[in-house]
Amino acid sequence: MTGSLVIAGLGPGADAMETPEVRGALDRATDIVGYIPYVARVAPRPGLVLHPSDNRVELDRARHALQMACDGRHVVIVSSGDPGVFAMASAVFEAVEAGPPHWRDLDIAVLPGITAMLAAAARAGAPLGHDFCAINLSDNLKPWALIEKRLRLAAEADFAMAFYNPRSRARPEGFARVLAVLNEACGDARPVIFARAVSTPEESLRVIALPDARPDMADMRTVVLVGNSATRIIARDGAPFVYTPRAVPE
Ligand SMILES: C[S@@+](CC[C@H](N)C(=O)[O-])C[C@H]1O[C@@H](n2cnc3c(N)ncnc32)[C@H](O)[C@@H]1O
Repeated sequence: MTGSLVIAGLGPGADAMETPEVRGALDRATDIVGYIPYVARVAPRPGLVLHPSDNRVELDRARHALQMACDGRHVVIVSSGDPGVFAMASAVFEAVEAGPPHWRDLDIAVLPGITAMLAAAARAGAPLGHDFCAINLSDNLKPWALIEKRLRLAAEADFAMAFYNPRSRARPEGFARVLAVLNEACGDARPVIFARAVSTPEESLRVIALPDARPDMADMRTVVLVGNSATRIIARDGAPFVYTPRAVPE
């Protein structure tokens, strides 16, 4: 029997934001592999084996999934959001490149999902409507100096920005530093959106001017969007619309 490996994005939380393609792969799977809270989003059924694992074991998880696919299983690795955005798809290809040659011949597919920044941007309006970049603020896999350099250069280039992993218990001071760098580099009151647990029952959205943003407005369930210098707020009753115009004048 020939096995397969699918690396699937479950979207930001709501079932309605999971693609039919991903749902089909989950229905056909024999094994689900992933970080504990993501595997918990997959409904158990007879014949389906769940393999939840802890954070920070991505390469072990990838190798385990590849080995099961070699053994003829139909394995789905689940990530939240999109699997190619700060998630499992890269870990799988790192394992394939360093692994035994026959892993390269496996049937491997990456199925996209709605990533947190796009779900959050849609809730707010169109803050990423012009050029933007996404930065993972965790320094688990890269030096802090590089994060700070990318922040400064992105601000200088006037990108709107999306920040993943803004804050954790292990790095309480990191996001304060990010806000200080942004205030220094941007020097204006552009809108910042703190979007927490988007598309789940705990969803909250807060729009605030950059100088008023505080570190404790973010946690690990928050994606933070920062506008560029042209980003606009349309005030109205209730939550404002935030959008970035499509054009930059000559
Ligand atoms: C390890 S990254 C995974 C990103 C995921 N692959 C994606 O495409 O959204 C985890 C970070 O994604 C963001 N995130 C994931 N789901 C979210 C949601 N529903 N609402 C807000 N932010 C979310 C948070 O910044 C969180 O710290």
